[in-house]
Amino acid sequence: MKRRQFLSLTTAALAAPTLFVRRANAAEPGAPLPVPEVMDVGPGSGNRLEAIRSTREFVTGVRSDTLGYSQDYLGPLLRFRRGQTAKMDVTNRIDAPITAHWHGMHVPGHLDGGPQLAFGPGETWSPELPIDHPAATLFYHSHVHGRTADQVYRGLAGLIIIDDPDIDVPLPRDYGVNDFPLIVQDRSFDGAGRMTYDIGMMDLMQGFHGTEILVNGAIRPKLTVPAGLVRLRLVNGSNARMYDFSFTDGRTFHQVASDGGLLTAPVSMTGLRLAAAERAEIVVDFTDRASVRLVSTQGGSGMMGGGMMGNSGMMGGNGGMMGGGAEGSPLEILSFEIADARNPGPARLPEALPAPVVDLGEPVRRRDFTLNMHAGNMMGSMLNNLIGRDGQIMGINDESYDMGRIDLQVPHGETELWRINADMSMHPFHVHGTSFQVVMQNGRSVDPARIGWKDVVHVQGPTEILLRFDKRARADAPFMYHCHILEHEDVGMMGQFTVL
Ligand code: C2O
Ligand code: CU
Ligand code: CU
Repeated sequence: MKRRQFLSLTTAALAAPTLFVRRANAAEPGAPLPVPEVMDVGPGSGNRLEAIRSTREFVTGVRSDTLGYSQDYLGPLLRFRRGQTAKMDVTNRIDAPITAHWHGMHVPGHLDGGPQLAFGPGETWSPELPIDHPAATLFYHSHVHGRTADQVYRGLAGLIIIDDPDIDVPLPRDYGVNDFPLIVQDRSFDGAGRMTYDIGMMDLMQGFHGTEILVNGAIRPKLTVPAGLVRLRLVNGSNARMYDFSFTDGRTFHQVASDGGLLTAPVSMTGLRLAAAERAEIVVDFTDRASVRLVSTQGGSGMMGGGMMGNSGMMGGNGGMMGGGAEGSPLEILSFEIADARNPGPARLPEALPAPVVDLGEPVRRRDFTLNMHAGNMMGSMLNNLIGRDGQIMGINDESYDMGRIDLQVPHGETELWRINADMSMHPFHVHGTSFQVVMQNGRSVDPARIGWKDVVHVQGPTEILLRFDKRARADAPFMYHCHILEHEDVGMMGQFTVL
């Protein structure tokens, strides 16, 4: 099965020249931003997600084949409350195995929705999730080994907001009024306007980069906000692309939360980088009523040392394909229009925020991880794999992911220092089951107050994280650590561990 999949992937890769001819499409940007429907997930039953096959008109009049959780593309926004137990029923109505992984949520391995918990067509998975996570913006997605990239690309992902009823934070929080989740994804479309996902050699190496930006499933939409402070919960839901977000007028905004919850204080900035699967909540002041656009100045993935295989070089310029700009011009993400509506939120940002307080103390052991592309002789390893093994060509510490092998046994409740290195390019490294603190990133020490609690860190040079696992994971449902470039993950840049 895996073998066959790899063969088709390689055939596509060998036909690479055609893949670089990507056509601009007939997308019409500027539709209103879809605000995801909310599913308030409480302790009662009846909280059902159904993975379905569907179609969606990303481009007016053209239907693309999609997947979704209970909707045509993506899923409802799940709203959990800390301290409750959330009962979910997830039913598989497609013709392939799926999972529902609660990315970033602190739950034990058997509730985590990792690859071992895949369930087949017609089956229902019914986890009861003890919500023991600080207020945060998370997301959920399918996590079937070898299929994650494809299934997420087609739509098996959704947003999660965790509310903490015990903490009153004076931030904008009127959903759909001054508090908006934004799942940012890049997708490609063919000349007819149908969404496509063709993986060539370059896409495998750099991770897939689409030619259009979607926010909540709409192409470069428009969001109407009231004047005053507006909270944007940014989720990089792309398979691989990294964004450097900023506003067209260069305005200052404040980050108030990162992956795992609130920061200790709002951090003022004019630009924000998010690698795949990273999240940030920002508060933007629209008091001046100027219409601005949220853009990303990052055209490529930052891969391959940012140099020789930058996207713009190989593919004729992303800028050119995204909204008609010149090469190197920023990608448009979302445009804003200011309405006359009253803003019910606070007029000013608080000076301090109730960030989660966890004292990790000193680490009792250290582990080293090297993320291997084997890209120096990628062709060689691909051909090797054609002849020999099972289509796993990337790895961690020289081992490709194997569902049957436990890579680490991590003791419960002990603080560890993980040192992560990348052998040549940038990889967003993600760990299941906990949030961590970044001590050093790419050789530089970092200010924890600006970074907060994380579950993804982008690694390009020596990076150190401090972490402790308070949730358990048995060998039959272990936790994962992996690159969140989904194309890398699917070909083996992943490992798994128990917490006992
Ligand atoms: Cu977003 Cu292993 O997950
Ligand atoms: Cu995860
Ligand atoms: Cu990677």
